[in-house]
Formats: sequence, structure tokens, C-alpha cells
Amino acid sequence: ISTPSNPSYLADDAIAKIHENPGFGVYFSDHMALIDWTSELGWTNARIVDHTPFSMDPAGSVYHYAQEAFEGLKAYRRADGSTWLFRPRSNAQRFANSCARLALPQLPEDDFVESVRQLVAVDSRWVPSGHEQSLYIRPFAVATESFLGVRPGKAVTYCVITSPVGSYFAGGVAPVDIWVETHYSRVANGGTGAAKCGGNYAASLLPQEIAYQHGCNQVMFVDNAEHTWVEELGGMNFAIITKDDELITPELNGNILPGITRDSLLTLAPEVGLTAQERPVSLAEVYEGLAKGTIAELFACGTAAVITPIGSLTDESGRHEVNVPADGGRTIALRNLLIDIQYGRIADTHGWTEQV
Ligand code: COI
Repeated sequence: ISTPSNPSYLADDAIAKIHENPGFGVYFSDHMALIDWTSELGWTNARIVDHTPFSMDPAGSVYHYAQEAFEGLKAYRRADGSTWLFRPRSNAQRFANSCARLALPQLPEDDFVESVRQLVAVDSRWVPSGHEQSLYIRPFAVATESFLGVRPGKAVTYCVITSPVGSYFAGGVAPVDIWVETHYSRVANGGTGAAKCGGNYAASLLPQEIAYQHGCNQVMFVDNAEHTWVEELGGMNFAIITKDDELITPELNGNILPGITRDSLLTLAPEVGLTAQERPVSLAEVYEGLAKGTIAELFACGTAAVITPIGSLTDESGRHEVNVPADGGRTIALRNLLIDIQYGRIADTHGWTEQV
């Protein structure tokens, strides 16, 4: 990957000001990584350039048929100043799977990781060092061919941008309220639910607005056929902690995003005394467990959300409160374990972290 000879840098004091209160996905670093693909030449021209707008013909196929897939991962600043990625190879593999489902070309894993690594290295000043801050990395691929026939684009751009971030939710780790959407679906059986593609998130936007109208922070989706089985939230996975020390999350049924945070927590569960289970979870079971007290905690998890406790579930029939433990319970114990690994405060015995 070639780097720019004359990069245009934002001044250090301006970046420091952004790092005081970065929000989520508001500010973008100086550079971006690009790799082109055409059906004739395959992947070519890997490069790092200034973060600038794309120029794309209005006939570019992503504008019309949404042929797009994306990823989300983070770079973490450790106390010694070094910068580390968390499970970038898992993101590369998921990205390849998403691209396959979207009939996009699959970028080799090493090229994905190297594009991320080199971009973060060039923009390392943008990796914040504040409490629970990180540099959010957004790789994506879009079909750029100018063509209105409905078929996979013969030209694709792969791009990586980055954004310094704090908490995804304005309230930080304060419990979030969830609107349970039983009318609109995010995905359908056989659809793109397991792929990380813009279309799934587009489908979540109206229900997410409805969630806000009900005073909730996030929307929860159930299966589209029976409206019975919990799938995931608008932008994160869902999990339960029972009184009997089980961590339960809906099994990957083709409609659920295989979250890398979700997967990491299933692995870490025994380290905080929890037995992990992936299985179908019905909405009725969750409501009943909350009412009877057999469910102790609920949480949302994802790269952006990290692990955020859930304070309530509301649907058309009413509100179901979670009795959130004052000390944060095992949700916060799991969260602390995960972020201690990500920030290198404890040893990474799983081989998940890679230095930039
Ligand atoms: C992520 O967690 O990386 C996502 O892509 C979800 C989105 C809510 C930002």
C-alpha cells in the first residue's frame, strides 16, 4: 500500500479538541484506504489517500440497488502509547461472508487486515487515549459500475475510513430502554440478516424512529414469520444472564449478525462464572423470566455498543422492567474483562489483539 507523499494533516491541537468529546462517528481522520476491483483485473491499486469525497457517476449501481457491505472494528490506545486492533481477522472473515451474500468480490483476509493496519498507522494521532475511547474503523465495499441493469457491479471500491469515538450511547454505560418491534421486521428467512450490509440497517431506521417515539434508545427485532423469537437489536446483539449463572444469546439462525463482541463474550463467559448457551430465545420467555426473577440481567453488545445493560423492554402491551443490579452485576464484570483485554490491562490469552 502506498502512502501519500504530501499528507494534509489536521493540526494536533484540533485533534486534541476533538478527542475531548468525540461522540460516535462524527469526526473522521485525515486519510482513507482504497482498493479497486474490476471484473477484468480483480483487486488492484491498494493505496492510502487523503479522506476526500468520492466522485461516482449517478448511475453507480450502489445508489440504485444497494450492493454494499461493511465492517466495524476498533483500534485501542494502551497506557504505554501503543495501538492495538481487536480480532481484525474475524472482521476480515465476516466481511468476506457478507460480500459473498451481496455478490461482491471477496477481499483476501491479509489485504483487509493490512489496509486497516496501515491506515491506523498513518493516522495514529487520531487514536484517542481517553477513558474507553477508541478509533472506530469502518471498512466497506460498494459497487460503483455505471449500469442500471440488475446484476452484480463489474466495478467495486473497497474503502476504510476511521473515526475517533467515545460511547455509542450518550448515557455511556447507563441502562438503555428497548422498544420491542413486532410489526416491522429487519430481515426475513433466507434474506441478508447474517450479512453486515447497509440494507439491513436501512430497514431498521423506521422501527428505530418508532423506538425513539416511545422514549426508547434501541429497537429489538423478533423473527418475521412468527413474531415470537428474539433476533437482535437495531445495531447490536442481545443477551440474557439468568439467576442460575447462564449467559444465553439467540443462536445464529441466518437472520442474526454474527457479532464479534457476541462471540468474544461466549468465550469469556466461564471466566466470570457463567455458562454460555446459544439457542432460540422467545419473547414470552424473556418477559416471563423478568416477571419471575429467573432472568437477572439483559444486555446489548457490539463493537460500537461494547456491552450496555438493558433497563427495560417495552412493546404494545406494556413495559417490562429489568431489576438492574446496583453494582452492574455480571454484565459489567463481562464488560470490564473484555475492555481490559482490549486495552491490554490484562493478558490476552485468546490471541485476539494485534499491534498496529
Ligand atoms: C458496530 O457495532 O460496529 C456496528 O456496525 C453497529 C452500528 C450501530 C454502528
